[in-house]
Amino acid sequence: LNYRVPQTRRDIFQTLIKGLQRLEYRGYDSAGVAVDGSGKDHAASISLYKKTGKVKALDEEIYKNNSIDFEAELDTHFGIAHTRWATHGEPSPLNSHPHRSDKNNEFVVIHNGIITNYKELKKYLVSKGYDFESDTDTEVIPKLIKYLYDNRENDYVSFSTLVERVIQQLEGAFALVFKSIHFPGEAVATRRGSPLLIGVRSQYELSTEQIPVQYNCSKSKVCFSFLFPLGNSRTDEQEKNVLNRRGSTNALHSVHDRLAVEFYFASDASAIIEHTNKVIYLEDDDIAVVVEGKLYVHRIKRTAGEDPVRVIQTLQMELQQIMKGNFKAFMQKEIFEQPESVVNTMRGRICFDSNTVILGGLSDHLKEIKRCRRLIVIGCGTSYHAGVATRQILEELTELPVMVELASDFLDRITPVFRDDVCFFISQSGETADTLMALRYCKQRGALTVGVTNTVGSSICRETDCGVHINAGPEVGVASTKAYTSQFVSLIMFGLMMSEDRLSMQQRRLEIINGLKKLPGLIKEVLALDDQIKSIADELHHQRSLLVMGRGYNYATCLEGALKIKEITYMHSEGILAGELKHGPLALIDKHMPVIMVIMRDACYKKCHNALEQVTARQGRPIILCCQDDPEISKMAYKTIELPHTVDCLQGIISVIPLQLISFHLAVLRGYDVDFPRNLAKSVTVE
Ligand code: G6P
Repeated sequence: LNYRVPQTRRDIFQTLIKGLQRLEYRGYDSAGVAVDGSGKDHAASISLYKKTGKVKALDEEIYKNNSIDFEAELDTHFGIAHTRWATHGEPSPLNSHPHRSDKNNEFVVIHNGIITNYKELKKYLVSKGYDFESDTDTEVIPKLIKYLYDNRENDYVSFSTLVERVIQQLEGAFALVFKSIHFPGEAVATRRGSPLLIGVRSQYELSTEQIPVQYNCSKSKVCFSFLFPLGNSRTDEQEKNVLNRRGSTNALHSVHDRLAVEFYFASDASAIIEHTNKVIYLEDDDIAVVVEGKLYVHRIKRTAGEDPVRVIQTLQMELQQIMKGNFKAFMQKEIFEQPESVVNTMRGRICFDSNTVILGGLSDHLKEIKRCRRLIVIGCGTSYHAGVATRQILEELTELPVMVELASDFLDRITPVFRDDVCFFISQSGETADTLMALRYCKQRGALTVGVTNTVGSSICRETDCGVHINAGPEVGVASTKAYTSQFVSLIMFGLMMSEDRLSMQQRRLEIINGLKKLPGLIKEVLALDDQIKSIADELHHQRSLLVMGRGYNYATCLEGALKIKEITYMHSEGILAGELKHGPLALIDKHMPVIMVIMRDACYKKCHNALEQVTARQGRPIILCCQDDPEISKMAYKTIELPHTVDCLQGIISVIPLQLISFHLAVLRGYDVDFPRNLAKSVTVE
C-alpha cells in the first residue's frame, strides 16, 4: 500500500509482480493480482488479473492488456497479489487468488493456508444465495465478508471489524490480506498459523520501534494512532523523479510536509526486502489495519502472558538467506519443517476427540475401496519407500493383500491388474512419468485409481479417480524429505479410515491416532539431536560406503536413508533387510565397513538383536539408531543415536529423520550441492 507516494500503475504492477517472483521458490502453479480499477475514481472498482503457470505468464498477460492505463499516476494505492501452490482445486485462473466476493469485486482476498471448515461455511453461504466460482477453500472468505457487510447492523462498520468477524468463523490455518472498494486505500491483514509480516518504508526517520497492540477495539474507541515515519526510502534523485513525473517542480516541500509511507504485507521477507528491511512480524490472531497511512495492530481479546507490543525489526539478511532462513540448503529447511508439515497433512482430517479420520478426497469412493480384493501401491524413489513403510500397517488395518511396486518394474512385468483392484499412485510431484504410465495401465484394466500427491492439479491428480493431497507444502530440494513423512502419514490415515467400523481394531486405532497426535513433538526431539548427528557425519564423511540395516517396520527407513545418502553424498550406500544379512551382505562386514543399524523396540527387536550379534562378531562397529534407554543395545554399539519411542507403525517417521540429517551433513562436508545433486532431477518426466 502506497499512501501519498505517487506511483504510476506500471510501478504498482511491477512491485507486485516482482514480489511474487521472489516467492516463487515456495512453489507456484498460478498467480493473480488485484489493483484499483482504471478511470477517474479509480478506487471505486477493483481489477483482477489471474493466470495459470509461472508469475512470468501473469506479467506477460498484464502487459498485453491494452485497456490498462499503465502511465496513470495514483497518489494512494493498495494492490494485492498471490502466487498459488494449490491445496484445494486444480490450478486454473478461477481457482487462483485473489478471490472475490462477487462479480463487482467488492471484496477481494489473498490467502495462504487451509480453511478446514470451508464446506460448512460454503453450505451456509450458498443457502444465503452466494454463488461460488472456484473449487477452493479460500473463496468462502470473500463471500463471508460480503455477507457480513451486507447484513451489518449499522450503516458504518469498519473494515477491520468485518475481518475480525470473519476470522472468528474460520478454522484451519491462514494468512489473509483483504482489499475492498468500500474501503479504498485501506488494508487489513491477519493471520493464524501461517506467517505474515509487514514491511514499512517512509521518507521520515524512525520515531518508534514498537507498536502497542490494542484490544477490544470498537468504532468509538479509536486504536492507537501512529505516525509512521521510518528509515530513508528514496534518494533525492528518486524523489525528484517522482516529482518530475507529476509535472511539478516546486512540490518537494509539500510532499515532505505530508505523511508519505509504503506498507508491504508479505508471507515472507524475500518478497519485500528490496523495498525495506524494517519489518513487523504479526502474531496469530493479530489484525493489522492501515487507514490514512497509519498502521494499527489489534486483537479481539487479550490472553495471559501475551506480548503487548509488536516490534519493528531491522533485517540484516541477504535475499538468498531469507528464502532459506538460517538453513544452508532447502533440503535442510525441509527436514526441519517436518513438525509442521505432518500437522498440515493431518489438519482437518483427524478428529482426536472422536478418533475418526476423514480423507475428503476418498469419501465418495470409500464403499468401492472397501469392496476391493487387493491394494496395489505404486511409486518411484522415495514415494515407493513410503509404500514399503506403510505396507504392514495397511495389511493389518484393511485386512487386504497389499502389493507395493516400483512403477517401472510393475510395467516391465506387465503385472496382472483386475477391476476389483484399487491402485494407489504415490508421487510428490504428481508428474513422474513411470508412475503416470502405471496409472494409465491400471486405468485401462478397470481398476479404481487413487492419487497421493503433493501437487494439486498435477497429471496424477487429474487422471486418478480420487485421491489425497499430502499438503506438505512445496519441496524444493531434489532429495525428498518432508514429502516422505507426509506420504507416510497420509497412507496411515487411509488405513485408519478403512478400519473405522472394525470393532476388533478400535484399541489399535486409538493407539495409532494418539501416536499421530504426539508425532510433531517427537519429530522436534529428533531434530534436537542434530549436533550429535553432525558429529557422526564428521567421522564418516571420508568413507566410500555406508550400509544401513533394519527390518520390519524400519526396513523402509533403511532403503530411504540409503537413497538419501546415494543421492546427495555420492557415497555408495545400501539399505539392507537385516533378515537377509546372513544370505549375502554379511560378507561385506569387517572392522572397516561403516554400518548403521536401526533397532527399535517392536516385534522385530529380538531378531534385530541377532543381526547385531552377527555384525559385532565380525568386528563390525555399528552406529545404532535405537530407542531411548536401551542399555543392552548401547553396550554393543560403536555409537548410538537414541530416539523417542512411538507406536511401531509410526516409528519409521521418527527413525528416518536422523538419516536425512546424516545425508545432509555428509553432503555438506564432502562439498556437494545439497539441493541440486549431479545427474538428478526433482521431477522425472521421462520413462
Ligand atoms: C525423482 C526424485 C526423487 C523422487 C522420485 C519420485 O527421482 O529425484 O526424489 O523420490 O523422482 O518422484 P515423485 O515426484 O513421483 O515422488
